[in-house]
Amino acid sequence: MTTGKGLKLVERDAGGIDLAFRADVLAGLAEPQKAIPARWFYDDAGSRLFEDITQLPEYYLTRAEAEILRGQAEHIARLIGPGRVVVEFGSGSSVKTPLLLSAIAPSAYVPLDIAGDFLRAAAAELAAKFPGLPVYPVEADFMRRVELPAEVEGLPKLGFFSGSTIGNMIARTATDLLRSMRETLGEGALLLIGMDLVKDERTLIAAYDDAAGVTARFNLNLLHRINRELDADIPVAAFAHQARWNDRFARIEMHLVAQRDVSFTVSGQRFAMTAGETIHTENSHKFTKRSGQMLLAAGGWDPCARWTDSEGRFALVLAEAKPPRSAP
Ligand code: AVJ
Repeated sequence: MTTGKGLKLVERDAGGIDLAFRADVLAGLAEPQKAIPARWFYDDAGSRLFEDITQLPEYYLTRAEAEILRGQAEHIARLIGPGRVVVEFGSGSSVKTPLLLSAIAPSAYVPLDIAGDFLRAAAAELAAKFPGLPVYPVEADFMRRVELPAEVEGLPKLGFFSGSTIGNMIARTATDLLRSMRETLGEGALLLIGMDLVKDERTLIAAYDDAAGVTARFNLNLLHRINRELDADIPVAAFAHQARWNDRFARIEMHLVAQRDVSFTVSGQRFAMTAGETIHTENSHKFTKRSGQMLLAAGGWDPCARWTDSEGRFALVLAEAKPPRSAP
C-alpha cells in the first residue's frame, strides 16, 4: 500500500483551531436560519456514533444497500467487467466495500477522503483483506477534481459512492460533485451510486429519530464538538434533536431546537436564540427513480442499470460517463 502525498488539508491557527470549521460555524450561526454543514458531524466521536446508527433497527439504509450488493453481485459484476480501478468517494465502509471488491475482480482500489487518519486505517484494513490488490489511498477533497495516482492512469475506472451520501447535498452541489467525479474518473468511466428512496414519512422519520436516541446523540455531538474545539460555551442540555420531513424538497432535515431562550459564545462571538429557534444541521434528500435519473443526467452520467432491495427502500444505480451530446 502506498500512502498519500502527506499534503496538509486541514489548516489550523496558532491555537490549533481548524479554520474552516470555525468559519463555517461562525457564518452559519449568523444566518437568520442558523445552519452548520453536515460534514462537521464526523470527528472521532461523531464517526463512531454514525457507525452505531448503521446498526440501528430503524436505520435501514446500510443494510438495504448491502443486501443489494450481496444479492445482485453477479449481475453487477457482469455489467462492470473485470480490471477496473475502483475509486471510492469517502473512506468506505468495512462491510460494503469488501462486498463490491470481491464481486468484481478490480485491478486496484483508490479510496479518497479528506480525513487522512481514518483513510489510512481503512485502506490498511482493506489491503489486508485483499492481498494482491494494489491499494492507493489519496487524501483529497473530492468536491473538486482529484489527481489520481500515476499507477492507475489509463486504466478503466469505476467510481463508488455509497450510503446515499449524495443526498446530503442540495441539487446544485450534488450536480457539481457528480461533474467533478466525471472529471476525476475520465471518459468511459462507470459510477455505482447509492440513493435512498422516497417512502412513507413514518419510516423516514424513525430512521433519523431512533428509539434508542443514537441519532439524537450524533446530532448533539456537533454542539459538544464546537464547545471542545472552538472555545465555546453552548448549553448543550438546552437543545433537543429533531428530524422533520420537508416535502417540497423531498428531504429529511435534522435540526437542533433550543428548548428555552439561550445565549452563548463561540470563539469570542456572542449568539442568542429564542425558545423554539433551530440550528439546521443536515439534509438527507430522498429520490424517486426519475429524480435520481435526472440528477445523474445533470451531472453528466447516463444511468444504465438500477437495483433496489427486496422492500424497495433503497436504490443502487450504475451509470456511465458518456461524451456530451446536445442533439435531441
Ligand atoms: C451518511 C449522509 C448517508 O443522511 O442518512 C444518518 C448520515 N444522518 N443519520 C444519512 C446520517 C443521520 C447519513 N449519510
